[in-house]
Amino acid sequence: MTHVIVLGNEKGGSGKSTTAMHVIVALLKSGRRVGAIDLDLRQQSLTRYLENRRKFSDLNQKELVFPVVSTVEPSSLDSREESKRQETENLKAGLAALSGCDFAVIDCPGANTHLSRLAHLHADTIVTPLNDSFVDFDLLARIDPETGRITGPSLYSEMVWEARKRRAMAGVPGNIDWVVLRNRLSATRANNKKHMGEKLDDLSARIGFRLARGFGDRVIYRELFPMGLTLLDLGGKGSPVRLSTMSHVTARLEIRSLVATLNLKAASTDDAAPQEVAA
Ligand SMILES: Nc1ncnc2c1ncn2[C@@H]1O[C@H](COP(=O)(O)OP(=O)(O)OP(=O)(O)O)[C@@H](O)[C@H]1O
Ligand SMILES: [Mg+2]
Repeated sequence: MTHVIVLGNEKGGSGKSTTAMHVIVALLKSGRRVGAIDLDLRQQSLTRYLENRRKFSDLNQKELVFPVVSTVEPSSLDSREESKRQETENLKAGLAALSGCDFAVIDCPGANTHLSRLAHLHADTIVTPLNDSFVDFDLLARIDPETGRITGPSLYSEMVWEARKRRAMAGVPGNIDWVVLRNRLSATRANNKKHMGEKLDDLSARIGFRLARGFGDRVIYRELFPMGLTLLDLGGKGSPVRLSTMSHVTARLEIRSLVATLNLKAASTDDAAPQEVAA
């Protein structure tokens, strides 16, 4: 069985594609067979990330790990019902193409699309990167502006709830594991960080997600994209780029910590010898 990991958050720019790429590379480096699906058909950040990686690898003659890529087309049918049916089939086919993989990582767009909702229905694990601000917290729950108390779940949380319900009704064993990851943690805004932490702890028990140790706000993430590299490709013998600062080393630990938190049975967080998988 392929374990499906969905990167979802309807808010744009929260770090879904960046996290997807790092999880993919972490799993590949632990010797797992990994498939990738980019459902952000407009921006295609994950696709671009992988294309950049291929170019970097070819130009510099560096051996890098690559996932198996499966593409899912949107429907262009006029009828809403027909279009939904076709997209349902397209996603099923996209996932079936990855049936030989241990993991399928699906990167969703920062919008509520039909394909994104469908992907959540197939998820074994949902990872939701969240910018460390109350504007983004609103995606998970509503807060009373006067008292600061949580008043109820928001639309995205309800979508995850619905996916869990449908999985149970379909008799699929196991619950969807939902992991929220705080992204762009600031080294300076300690008060905001603490306040967000308290609210997220409170919410995690109420709507059923686990909280992962987050990622710091680091320029390196933006710098690696054009080369198609991840923090896990840096450092070590034969590395294409050196791990340059303490901040990069810490960032790499944060990635490893996320993968460990995901608690993926078939995965190990230890680096194995890099392994090339057909692109
Ligand atoms: N921890 C971080 N520190 C600094 N920059 C980051 C961090 N995480 C992501 N970024 C940068 O923020 C931008 C948005 O990240 P990314 O594309 O991964 O978000 P996304 O959720 O996939 O966005 P979209 O919703 O548009 O698909 C990118 O330029 C990325 O390099
Ligand atoms: Mg994206």
